[in-house]
Amino acid sequence: MLGSTSLEPAVADSKEIARRVAREIATLVEERRRVGRAAVLGLATGSTPLDVYAELVSLHRRGALSFSNVVSFNLDEFLGLARSHQRTFRRFMQDALFDHVDIPPENVHLPDVELHDSQIDAHCADYERAIRRVGGIDLQLLGLGLNGHIGFNEPGSAGDSRTRAVVLHAATRERAIRWFGDLREVPRRAITMGIGTILEARRVRLIVTGEHKRDVLTRLLEGGVTPDLPASFLHAHGDARLFADTAAVAQS
Ligand code: F6R
Repeated sequence: MLGSTSLEPAVADSKEIARRVAREIATLVEERRRVGRAAVLGLATGSTPLDVYAELVSLHRRGALSFSNVVSFNLDEFLGLARSHQRTFRRFMQDALFDHVDIPPENVHLPDVELHDSQIDAHCADYERAIRRVGGIDLQLLGLGLNGHIGFNEPGSAGDSRTRAVVLHAATRERAIRWFGDLREVPRRAITMGIGTILEARRVRLIVTGEHKRDVLTRLLEGGVTPDLPASFLHAHGDARLFADTAAVAQS
């Protein structure tokens, strides 16, 4: 039941969740600035974090938040699209956040979308090294897949997995039709941070909103830690918090 997990949900309206998470991020960025340090954010794409990004942009426009000391690492990126494709996660992040704030472009990191197979392993190792070089991720933002994935760590992913290329599950590709219009256009592979990579972030903030997430959220809150539900590895994290809206929390 809900009681015995560090992931006991803070339940609120989805806009309120976005405001709370954005405020926490803004406070972190400001604290780091005061001591002359960068704030390292792990970011997600998908529908879930859009309200958080809108809040962050609004804070920036009001002069209440600068991203000049932010370094970002996105969780994942498709493989096999051209860099100029309109549905890359880089494009998504530009549209939702980066184009509207003062983050230095050289501080933004996403896995590359356009790689030869022979380049992938080295690219993933470089991504891990880049995260380590800046001292690790301070706060990782996550959404939850309908199949329990975090990043593109699909069911079956190991708890100590690192950044790597993965084959997307059929259900994940189906969900992506909303971005691509046609299943045939949805890439089959992606690069994702591993679960081990995610668990090393000092704070993890998982947001789950919408009635369609009810079943997977119930599984997350009732079950133990299992690779069948990759998000369940977060139960073992010392500072993982779950924010869920009333639509996602099943009535008992
Ligand atoms: C996105 C990501 C995915 C999504 C998840 C939920 O970078 O890594 O794990 O967070 O698929 O997607 P939405 O928010 O669209 O329901």
